Amino acid sequence: MTGHRFPADHSKRLSDDSRRKVQPAEDIVRRMSPRPSEVVADLGCGTGYITIPLAPLVTKVYAIDAQQAMLDRLAEHVPDGYGGKIVTVLAELPPLPLTDSSIDRAILVNVVHEVDDLPLLHSELQRCLRAGGRLSIVDFPRRETSFGPPLEERLSEEQVIEAFPSFHKDRGWSFSEFYQLELILRP
Ligand SMILES: C[S@@+](CC[C@H](N)C(=O)[O-])C[C@H]1O[C@@H](n2cnc3c(N)ncnc32)[C@H](O)[C@@H]1O
Repeated sequence: MTGHRFPADHSKRLSDDSRRKVQPAEDIVRRMSPRPSEVVADLGCGTGYITIPLAPLVTKVYAIDAQQAMLDRLAEHVPDGYGGKIVTVLAELPPLPLTDSSIDRAILVNVVHEVDDLPLLHSELQRCLRAGGRLSIVDFPRRETSFGPPLEERLSEEQVIEAFPSFHKDRGWSFSEFYQLELILRP
């Protein structure tokens, strides 16, 4: 692991008011511009801070996390009427527990700094994404912010882009507390 793993016994912090104020989930999802036909993998989904607002806008979300306690909390909060759009999967990433060319988008929200083997994650994304697939990444800049992992565990936007060389940057946003990158798989 490059850094620590966010502990499940602190999972309430993933959706508390201070996070909602600084990093509103609906704004992150809107910047992703999801399409209704998309099948998405939310890698390191935690308690579903992004999975839950994203699911009604797409066809299906695989909500994947290494900690069962996170998936249990997510399942508790799925609103009625989501019609099985969210499929939870317990897995340590990478590899990805998905078949070849089975997803249109992968998302990593406040997760990329926790993943050990970025080269393997990169090749797994190439395998699982369909042509023109998208990779949406949100993470912390390498400077002090009001919350987030220790500075030495963080990856800058440039380091993230370098870690996924088969993708090109479509759009990006830098905020005081986090950045968001929208990358597209090169043909
Ligand atoms: C800081 S939390 C973010 C959760 C969620 N994406 C959000 O924005 O609220 C990081 C999550 O990634 C998961 N995680 C970290 N490394 C992982 C790995 N290698 N495989 C699967 N899940 C991982 C952790 O269990 C934790 O739930």
